[in-house]
This record gives sequence, C-alpha cells and structure tokens, in this order.
Amino acid sequence: MKYVNFSGTQEKVSVIGLGTWVFGGENWGGADDEACVAAVGEALSLGMNFIDTAPFYTDGKAERLIGRAIKGRREKAFIATKCGLVRENGRIRHDLSPASVAREADESLRRMDCDVIDLYMCHWPDPATPVEKTMEAFLRLRAERKIRHIGVSNFDLALLKKACAVAPVATLEVQYSLLERGIEAELLPFCRDKGIGVIAYGALGGGILTGKYVKVPPFGKWDARRMFYDHFEGEKLKKAQKIVKEMQAFGRPLNQVALNWVRQKAGVMTVLAGCRNPQQVRENAGAVDFDLPDRI
Ligand SMILES: NC(=O)c1ccc[n+]([C@@H]2O[C@H](COP(=O)([O-])OP(=O)(O)OC[C@H]3O[C@@H](n4cnc5c(N)ncnc54)[C@H](OP(=O)(O)O)[C@@H]3O)[C@@H](O)[C@H]2O)c1
Repeated sequence: MKYVNFSGTQEKVSVIGLGTWVFGGENWGGADDEACVAAVGEALSLGMNFIDTAPFYTDGKAERLIGRAIKGRREKAFIATKCGLVRENGRIRHDLSPASVAREADESLRRMDCDVIDLYMCHWPDPATPVEKTMEAFLRLRAERKIRHIGVSNFDLALLKKACAVAPVATLEVQYSLLERGIEAELLPFCRDKGIGVIAYGALGGGILTGKYVKVPPFGKWDARRMFYDHFEGEKLKKAQKIVKEMQAFGRPLNQVALNWVRQKAGVMTVLAGCRNPQQVRENAGAVDFDLPDRI
C-alpha cells in the first residue's frame, strides 16, 4: 500500500480507502455479510487502513459489520464515518442540528463498538441548520474526544468556506471520477490551496468503469446504480462506454486505471473503492502498484 499524511498531520492514511456503502446490500442488490466482514479484514491486512462508512449504509448495518471486523485490531484502522442523513418512518431526512449530530455520533460509536471516530463528516448539507451550529457541535465532540478530525462531504465551495471559518475542516469527501469531474473547477483547487484532503468517491463509477458491464442488468428502484450513479443508461451510458474503451489502451485492469486516474490528481488524499468481498479489495489495492502516464 502507499500512504499520505492525513491533512497536514504526521498520521498516515492509505491512498486507496475501503468504501462500504455496499455493506448490508440495501442499495446494491444484496450483499453477503461474511464477505463484507472479510473484506475489511483483507483491507487491513493489505495495509488499506482508511475505512469509509456511514449510518445511512443499510441503516447502521455497515457500521455494525465494521465493528465486528475491527474487533481486537482497532488500532490498524482509520475509521471515517458521517452524520446528517436520518431515517424516520421509512424516509430519509437531512438533519445536522447539534442535538442530532451528538446523538448520531454516540450511535455510531456504539455500533462500531469503539471509543473514538478518527474522522467525522457531515454526509450531506442540511439547509435547515446553519453550518456554523453544526461545526460547533463537531468541535464539542472533538473536545469530548469522541471524534479526532472534522470533515464534510458533498459541500459546495460557499458552504465549505463557511464551515472552515468555524472549525478546522480536514477533509472534503466528494464524487470524482473519469465520469464526474465537476470538482476540478473550484473545489479541488480550493482544497489543494488550503491543505484540505480530498476523499474521492465513485471512482469506479459504481462499477461501470471496471469495464465488466457488457450488458447492463435492470437495477431495482433503490439500487445505487439507478438512483445515484446515473451512467448506466442513455447518453451517459454511451459516454461511459467510450471512456472504458479509451481506458483499455493502458493494458492494465480497468478498475486499477480508474482508481489511479483519481489517485494521481494533485489534492486528492484518498480514493475510495467500494468493495463487497476480499477479492475486490485485492484487485483494487493493486492499483498502487503502478502509475498512469498523464494521458487521459
Ligand atoms: N459521501 C458520500 O455522499 C458518498 C457517496 C457515495 C459513496 N461514498 C463512499 O465511497 C465509497 C465508494 O463509492 P461506491 O461504493 O458508491 O462506488 P464505486 O467505488 O465507484 O463502486 C463500487 C462497486 O463497484 C463494484 N466493484 C468494486 N471493485 C470491483 C472490482 N475490482 N471489479 C469489479 N467490480 C468491482 C462493486 O459492486 P458490484 O460487485 O455490485 O458490481 C462495488 O460495490 C462508498 O462505498 C462509500 O463508502 C460516499
């Protein structure tokens, strides 16, 4: 594995991180619990210490599975989790109010059976709560030693600047891939300039950039590949297929080309790769074994 310093500290985090949205399977057409627990174990044994999760992933199940996987080896993992997407009567609402943030942090700690969260992030903005209030709640959690670092996710530049004015925001987690390059205009240069580590998600485009889809299967209504990653039909599918063809010119496994393309961008700290089993972990960890020439 290769490592970078976590946002201006001496702490080392892996350049490829384990994504766990698939854990529990809710938005990914099912998943095998034991394979997910084994995926975490494989990641840790390969030195992939950065583990990204969220209470939203199958309603806490991803965090519980991670808790099982890290038992007895907590010190090997750098755990990043989030708050702000709250389930209520079968619906999801945005809530970054101080009381909700404090409650969610306790719930995450309990589910993962650990004392501290290494990186705690706002999952998505909550337009009803001033971000200053949310950041104050994060600072309290840090003072209580329940979290070590503060991060945000899916913030635009204006909101990120507001958050930074109140708290030391260490990281920004955003979608970034060969298919989604929106952050290159403003967010990536800003983060680079301020020393905020970018954590990139969706680098595999939800799987399509691995090149494995000869024919796209019909995904269920709440499948991430239908409701979140929208490169699986219409014009976007054609664009994705064209990019996949271009990626083949490198003569390397396409999952690794996709991850390296993001990993090598200046300002990117860690690239997440969602994995449902140890084999996918090994295949994705292998991306650090070579660098791409700056061609695409
Ligand atoms: N902050 C946020 O709002 C946010 C949003 C999205 C994601 N995330 C985080 O970022 C992580 C990564 O994103 P993602 O999981 O959504 O998408 P992704 O990494 O682009 O794609 C992950 C999916 O690709 C497939 N895959 C992975 N490795 C593969 C391999 N070697 N060969 C073939 N297929 C492979 C797997 O699905 P199949 O096996 O089903 O094909 C896997 O679930 C998430 O897990 C989550 O932790 C955060």
